[in-house]
Amino acid sequence: MESKLIFEDKEIIIPGAKNSILPIIAASLLIRGKTEIKNVSKLEDIQNMLKIIIKLGVKVEFSNGNLLINASKINNLNPDSKLVKKLRASFLIFGPLLFRNKQVKIAKPGGCSIGSRKIDLHLKGLKSFSCSIEENDFIKGNLLNPVPVNLELDYPSVGATEHLISLATVVPGISKLSNAAIEPEVLDLVEFLKSAGANIKQKGTTFVIKGADLHSTSFTPIPDRIFTATWIVTALLKRKNIQLINFNYDLLGSFFETLKELGVLIEVNNGIINIICPKELKPFYIKTGSFPAFPTDIQPFMAVLACTIKGKSIIEETIFENRFAYVNELNKIGANIKIEGNRLIINYSKLTGGTVIGKDLRGTMALYLASLISSKPFIIKNKNYINRGYENFEVEL
Ligand code: UD1
Repeated sequence: MESKLIFEDKEIIIPGAKNSILPIIAASLLIRGKTEIKNVSKLEDIQNMLKIIIKLGVKVEFSNGNLLINASKINNLNPDSKLVKKLRASFLIFGPLLFRNKQVKIAKPGGCSIGSRKIDLHLKGLKSFSCSIEENDFIKGNLLNPVPVNLELDYPSVGATEHLISLATVVPGISKLSNAAIEPEVLDLVEFLKSAGANIKQKGTTFVIKGADLHSTSFTPIPDRIFTATWIVTALLKRKNIQLINFNYDLLGSFFETLKELGVLIEVNNGIINIICPKELKPFYIKTGSFPAFPTDIQPFMAVLACTIKGKSIIEETIFENRFAYVNELNKIGANIKIEGNRLIINYSKLTGGTVIGKDLRGTMALYLASLISSKPFIIKNKNYINRGYENFEVEL
């Protein structure tokens, strides 16, 4: 059964998680056969990822939310640099291509400029599979005889965990990856790989993976929790209620627990979550972190919500060092937010008109959410950032 949300009598199907689908598309290159992914929305990041693999010779059909990938043949091993630079997750094809061709050259990935976004953990992990790597403007890799790894990540990076788990599934022998990320999207990728025949066992933040041959599969990803949180914050900004159907509470557990501190009532009953907003919300403190801590991607929306709450709210960002670019933009239209190091101190304010500039996906969505509560219309430049993570958002919101 699909996951849905109901807001103001409108029923909206929650699309499959973008951050599950991108690593799944990359991992589909490990399969010399067909991969079907259901409930996929036409996001710019997904379309760009597909363009990258189509240019490699992979067959792709994408209609009505159904994505069919056939990576039986890969005949071009030079991923298009322009496309690769458009999104960070593009780098996740590096390991699978090395497995398929032993030698790969790829441009350094791009993505939202929310921090330095290094790839050192990916490269360190890949090297322990006995991959030799040369790094300048491009990353060149050579992987003749991969060996299984026993690796403890220095930091539980989501992307590095996904990259290394994916490669380990096809490397003969038993690999172990500890201090790994366990974000729901990482576990969803693991479920996908298992559905294709991978042998993966998880205990806490450790994964034990026995190399296997992967086969064709069909998979439905988890619902997009960041999309869902965007809608929940939309409802709360308007002090309205919202209902989720067939949505696993744990996907947004720390977010829901924070909302309770704001005074929001959350009723969970038989797969239905009722989020009931009081007239007045209380100020809050959040600190982002790796799962199960508060998700960094939701932090910008909470800053907008804090503008509508009397008292002082505090947001502490611990994942990305440059995720406050939207704050100066909000201040331009009347917000009262101070940046102190990696903390935001947010006081109640009335937002008015002006011009703001989007700098990254979630920050630009935060600016869009601000337009729902400002007393005057304002202009958002670079609003196209939002298309990376939301389909038809202007119509829907
Ligand atoms: C993924 C999500 C993104 C989310 C983030 C954290 C996708 C497509 N994107 O991004 O929406 O905000 O997880 O939940 O799934 N780092 C290094 N070296 C590395 C890798 C990462 O220093 O090799 C650092 C990054 O610069 C960052 C932190 O680790 O400061 C977290 O990054 P990571 O967990 O890898 O996030 P992404 O996979 O890029």
